[in-house]
Amino acid sequence: MKDSKYITIEEAVRKGSGEVNLRGWVYRERKSNKFIFIVLRDETDIIQCVIAKNKTPKVFGAAEKLTIESSLKISGKIKEDDRAPTGYEVAVNEIEILQVAEPFPITEHQSPELLYDNRHLWLRSRQLNAILKVRHTIVGAIHQFFRDRGYFEFDAPIFQPSMSEGGSTLFEVKFFDDIVYLSQSWQLYAEAGIFSLGKIYNMGPTFRAEKSKTSRHLAEFWMAEMEAAWMELDEVTEVAKDEIRFIIGEVLNDRRKELEILERDVNLLERYLKADYPTIKYAEALEILNSKYDMDVPWGKDLRTIEEAKIADHFKVPVVVTHYPTEIMGFYKPPSKENPKEALCFDMLAPEEYCEIIGGSERSLLVDDMKMRLKAEGEDPETYNWYFDLRKYGSVPHSGYGLGVERVISWICGLDNIKDAIPFPRTMLRKSP
Ligand code: 4AD
Ligand code: MG
Repeated sequence: MKDSKYITIEEAVRKGSGEVNLRGWVYRERKSNKFIFIVLRDETDIIQCVIAKNKTPKVFGAAEKLTIESSLKISGKIKEDDRAPTGYEVAVNEIEILQVAEPFPITEHQSPELLYDNRHLWLRSRQLNAILKVRHTIVGAIHQFFRDRGYFEFDAPIFQPSMSEGGSTLFEVKFFDDIVYLSQSWQLYAEAGIFSLGKIYNMGPTFRAEKSKTSRHLAEFWMAEMEAAWMELDEVTEVAKDEIRFIIGEVLNDRRKELEILERDVNLLERYLKADYPTIKYAEALEILNSKYDMDVPWGKDLRTIEEAKIADHFKVPVVVTHYPTEIMGFYKPPSKENPKEALCFDMLAPEEYCEIIGGSERSLLVDDMKMRLKAEGEDPETYNWYFDLRKYGSVPHSGYGLGVERVISWICGLDNIKDAIPFPRTMLRKSP
């Protein structure tokens, strides 16, 4: 088999008949006296391979040693077979075993914790393989969305001297003789970048010491952010809606097979692709919750996930909620002129109980107000002097938002837990492997 040309399982199935050379790993195996059935997997798919004792006794003898995840190369004849798990079967006539694997620690019906402990091995599962391919497509779509629209990619430091999203979720890092924090957001630096580049975006690692054990929070995640000079709230919310529809369109174009493996209801994604997404004010959201769902949310309280879920399910498509109470919002979210109690900010809430996937706002131009709010949060406004400079030298209205990449992956794939949207999850309770 030394000089053979190897093709992937997907290519072999496309070929459909004749001789094929494949290489991969044993996904499943079943042995009887006369036949050995191996389901072979590679990066593209799985395929059943059959070894008949009477036809190829030497190959049969070698294959008897094979265990789950053993690595091998095979040559054989492919043909359609309805009984095989993916509709094709290879009759093997040659085999080369690279390694007989030790007993694989992951067997059927394992607890989630064991799967997370063995994440380095579980990445090989069909499920993770499918999710990682959808992730690849979503990440590519985000870059394409912004580049096609004239945004420049702009990078911010990961080591930052201060917070942007509240001090309680900062990770402290020793930085020579000093302390700095891991980035909670690209935003404050992006606000400097727009004065040079106009419209910018980025996707990067983001860190939050979230002391919650929910299925929506990671301690390390990827955020895709944008920031644009001259843009106001009504425009930036439309960019966010277009971005989500673009991402869904790309996944539907390229990842049908993976969505099927994940048993995702594609009809829902088709609906999200074509739908208009409503924009409502926080006050209207309360109105809906209190009148239609018999809830009792007072003005001024942030929406909890249960309330976000009700709002998104009420409309059955992603919903943009704007004008949250200024008092409970970050220092940079500006009070509206008409009613300073409301901030010019928004969240996008995804249906099916996935809730907040995007958060954004116009950016405050009121330096004294921001200083006051920082002080109220226990921050030293001095640390932000460079940021306030941006309001001194040709200040312009500007806006931006951040999209939680794993939140969007979870929603589009229909995952139960955000931990499955990233190869090696980090949470309060998980820092290895
Ligand atoms: O709403 P957030 O905190 O907004 C910001 O950080 C802004 N500075 C972004 C901006 O305007 N440039 O975070 C943005 C999004 C959330 O909507 C959510 O989807 C995601 O980031 N996110 C998380 N995803 C996973 N785990 C966490 N702990 C997350 N925290 C936020
Ligand atoms: Mg938010």
